[in-house]
Amino acid sequence: MPKPLRRYIPALAAALPLIFFCTPLWAGGSDAALSKKTRQTSNFLSERGRPLFLQYCAHCHGNNGEGDGFNAEFLDKEPAELSDRDFLGKKTNNQIYRIIYKGGAGVKKSHLMPVFGATLSEEEIWSLVAYARKLSGDTDHPVQVPEGAGRERPRGPAVSQEELAQFSSAAGEATPETLAFGEKLFRKKKSCLACHALEEEGGHVGPDLTRAGALYPAKWLYAWIAGPQVFSPDTKMPNLKLEREEARALVHFLRSRAGGERPMEWKQYLTARGDPERGRKLFFDPEGKAYCSKCHRMEEKGGRVGPDLSWIGSKRTREFLLESLLDPKAVITSGYSTVMILTHDRKFITGVKKSEDDSSLTLVDKEGREQTISKDLIKKFKTQKISTMPANFGDLLDVQEVADLLAYLQTRVHPLFAEPAKP
Ligand code: HEC
Ligand code: HEC
Ligand code: HEC
Repeated sequence: MPKPLRRYIPALAAALPLIFFCTPLWAGGSDAALSKKTRQTSNFLSERGRPLFLQYCAHCHGNNGEGDGFNAEFLDKEPAELSDRDFLGKKTNNQIYRIIYKGGAGVKKSHLMPVFGATLSEEEIWSLVAYARKLSGDTDHPVQVPEGAGRERPRGPAVSQEELAQFSSAAGEATPETLAFGEKLFRKKKSCLACHALEEEGGHVGPDLTRAGALYPAKWLYAWIAGPQVFSPDTKMPNLKLEREEARALVHFLRSRAGGERPMEWKQYLTARGDPERGRKLFFDPEGKAYCSKCHRMEEKGGRVGPDLSWIGSKRTREFLLESLLDPKAVITSGYSTVMILTHDRKFITGVKKSEDDSSLTLVDKEGREQTISKDLIKKFKTQKISTMPANFGDLLDVQEVADLLAYLQTRVHPLFAEPAKP
């Protein structure tokens, strides 16, 4: 596929999962009421597989399984063309199940195909097998869920508070061997590079991790990598089934990549002592200079133009929080890109895309106003390299006010990250 055409696909692919809310079978929900027989027919199964495919597979394999997802051009190995009947026809249902369940590395194929057996239920994986058969137009291999296949999503052992506390005290001890092990896992064994960029290499499904060491605290990296679903049940990042040793090595490797110089002026903000109470007031005050809650949810209130910041204090380093405030476009949070639409009657509309279905797109602008645009009216659609978050807080707020906001943000931590209660 020519490159310019590919450029349009990311945004569309990212939004497609939302379509599934419209498919009656899925939205019907209470499938406990359905007879076992209905649940097992190929058609029903592939209906269930479709939204899963759009959520977890389409970025590499393409919306129709043609191997042309927006992320495919960044991979050294082409994602299989699942729409190719001859290719898929040679495989048994069990073989297809196994590669989805175990990942490429688990069946001696490319490590760039991630493992999904620690994220999706067995029944969901069978529904993906059925959907792949459907994409290839194959009716000769009807798919049935085997007797006893699990219907619950697996839940790995969650990282405990004690384990996290211990991890932070051991984080400084990276040896050259651990770093090399972490790098090998990232690049060659565990699919990370398939979705994340490091410098010029790697995929773009998740954030660029070139500067990961400066952006994420070690404890957060450890907890997230070990089980992203604990914090974000519907994230596109699968649980990669890591041993604790492996998660630790990956954290060391990522923390070693701090990248680049920071502007000199930042130092005054980073060293100033802030008052979280004053910061909180600035955050929520509609009359104040900041009024962050206009766009962000926190303590269960506030707008939804930007990401929920409830646990931001555990997820981001102080330096990254400062950067988000002074230079928001430097890192755009996944799912919050600003898009620009040009309509056939020459109107420009910009905002953060909230949802999309077959016929329309909904954007929210920086005032929180939603606007739904029919796809027939769209002439051009572009993802922009700017943030919808205002870029002038550095001018509006003085050093003390910024430090107050940082102090407040840093108090907002996930319960797992709270210090264990002292007896
Ligand atoms: C990050 C990119 C990526 C994602 C996400 C991904 N795949 Fe793949 N997939 C690949 C690559 C690359 C291959 C080729 C592996 C090889 O031939 O060594 C592949 C191969 C396959 C194959 C063919 C295996 C074979 O026997 O040759 C199937 C089936 C498959 N993927 C299904 C899925 C499903 C279903 C999902 C979503 C649950 C998914 N993939 C998600 C990259 C991806
Ligand atoms: C199939 C694609 C995929 C694979 C494979 C993958 N990730 Fe991710 N990752 C994502 C996405 C998407 C996000 C953004 C998550 C979100 O906000 O839901 C993410 C987020 C992250 C983050 C940032 C978390 C944050 O707080 O924003 C880190 C760090 C990370 N991944 C590390 C890894 C590592 C290490 C591996 C390999 C063990 C890996 N990822 C494999 C897709 C992937
Ligand atoms: C007009 C809406 C708007 C206002 C007002 C706003 N933000 Fe944002 N903010 C956003 C959007 C949209 C994003 C996501 C895009 C990006 O990363 O730049 C974001 C991103 C962020 C992030 C990064 C989150 C992450 O997951 O890494 C932080 C931190 C943040 N904002 C803090 C603040 C603070 C503090 C204020 C008040 C001083 C504020 N924002 C005011 C819209 C806003």
